[in-house]
Amino acid sequence: MEIQVSTQAWHEAEADWLVVGVTESPDLSGSFAALDASLGGSLSRLVEAGDLTGKLAELLPVLDAPGLSARRLLAVGLGKADELNGERFCKAMMTAVRSVASKKDRSLALALPESLSGLSTADAAAIAARAIVVGPVGQDSLKTEPGHHPLAAATVLTPVDGEADAKAGVTKGTIIGEAMNLTRNLVDLPPEMIYPESFAERASEAAAAAGVSCRVLGQSELEAEKMGSLLAVAQGSDRPPRVVIVEYKGGKADAPTLAIVGKGVTFDSGGLSLKTSEGMLTMKCDMAGAATALGATLAIARLGLPVNVTGYMGLVENMVSGNSYKLGDILTARNGVTIEVQNTDAEGRLVLADVLSYAVDNGADKIIDLATLTGACVVALGEDVTGVFSNNQDWADAVLSAAKTAGEDAWQLPMFDHYAELLKSDVADCRNIGGRWGGAITAAKFLEKFVGEKPWVHLDIAGPSFASSNKGHREGGSTACMVRTLIEVAATLG
Ligand code: BES
Ligand code: MN
Ligand code: ZN
Repeated sequence: MEIQVSTQAWHEAEADWLVVGVTESPDLSGSFAALDASLGGSLSRLVEAGDLTGKLAELLPVLDAPGLSARRLLAVGLGKADELNGERFCKAMMTAVRSVASKKDRSLALALPESLSGLSTADAAAIAARAIVVGPVGQDSLKTEPGHHPLAAATVLTPVDGEADAKAGVTKGTIIGEAMNLTRNLVDLPPEMIYPESFAERASEAAAAAGVSCRVLGQSELEAEKMGSLLAVAQGSDRPPRVVIVEYKGGKADAPTLAIVGKGVTFDSGGLSLKTSEGMLTMKCDMAGAATALGATLAIARLGLPVNVTGYMGLVENMVSGNSYKLGDILTARNGVTIEVQNTDAEGRLVLADVLSYAVDNGADKIIDLATLTGACVVALGEDVTGVFSNNQDWADAVLSAAKTAGEDAWQLPMFDHYAELLKSDVADCRNIGGRWGGAITAAKFLEKFVGEKPWVHLDIAGPSFASSNKGHREGGSTACMVRTLIEVAATLG
């Protein structure tokens, strides 16, 4: 389905639902007044009666709407006009689209508000398009009767003077929404369907469709690369590991390359340091970093941003078997660092260690890694905020500012030298856990050993990447968090 852009009057748009945003104490002029007139004044009466409040994301369906070409009207609250911003508009649009997609209707027309205060038409159109793409996709695709229904048609209505901006915004928002759905789909599908090999196959297909080159390293290539740390985690599984590399060269040949590295543990049982059933229940999400690296890199390519970006995904399953890696094992990582295993559930850092060092040697100039790395980060920041860790403040600031622009919450934690002492081992260069306190930071300190001198930012997405319940404005399960931030970072590099 391709989203259309139209300059039709709102009451003339043909669709099952006409979606119109309404602010608190709305200004009943312009297109809104024309709509009200075609409805015989019922909108202004609803406002008057206090039934149409305009409160953010509050829905008011008007099922009988003679006078409109659309069969029904869905008014969605935009909140106070002077508080409208990208995040709030997104919440309203997602709520409206998800509500329409929960019914078996096929089409919607979505009117961009005429006065957007701080939002540009292009940004509003991009957000609307993203909602149209993301909203109808649920985590319930394997139900016999999913609660979400794909739209057959969608039109964004814009005033004539905003048509070009709206078209550009819709194109951009569609690409971003599709990238988020790619990431979501990989995370939401069960671990029996998404394992290193199948993830790699899906990644190759998606890369080919986006015109991006893709390489997959298998067991023997990983052995040749001496990825002893990653391979140790993988050895307890019947599913062989993979490292996927997607490469987009949109920038000048001599321009710096951004590496986006993702943790791809397709299922984390904890290994011999076995998790509880409760702790293991959502561990299909432990490849969210890899799925995000893939979605973002392909979106950056499809948007044609003038940058060079390489995505790296380290894919393993952390399982229990007679061949599992053990406590007390000493692993030699690709860069020669020896690691004493003290907990097989601290496996993500072992996977990333080798992939980060590979990225460094493969020409990365700046690095961002993403990982569902520690429960400690969720304890520190809660479920909705990404932890940010870095060896370079300028690079951290660039990522934090991109997150702010994208409307994604991220917060930096310290990386003082003394945290690294907690990783000391009596028998190897380091151990893979840091002890009871500061677990998100000691994990980041561990990763720092594998990035050389490169500017590097580590994003711990253990909390925000996976939501435990459905809400009006977003589906539970994968959230595709940080896809937009990464695209924003790449846009500022170009
Ligand atoms: N994948 C988990 C972290 C995680 C926890 C992700 C909750 C999403 C939600 C990671 O591999 C892990 O098990 N980390 C351990 C580290 C510990 C053994 C040092 C943890 O956080 O408990
Ligand atoms: Mn683990
Ligand atoms: Zn894990």
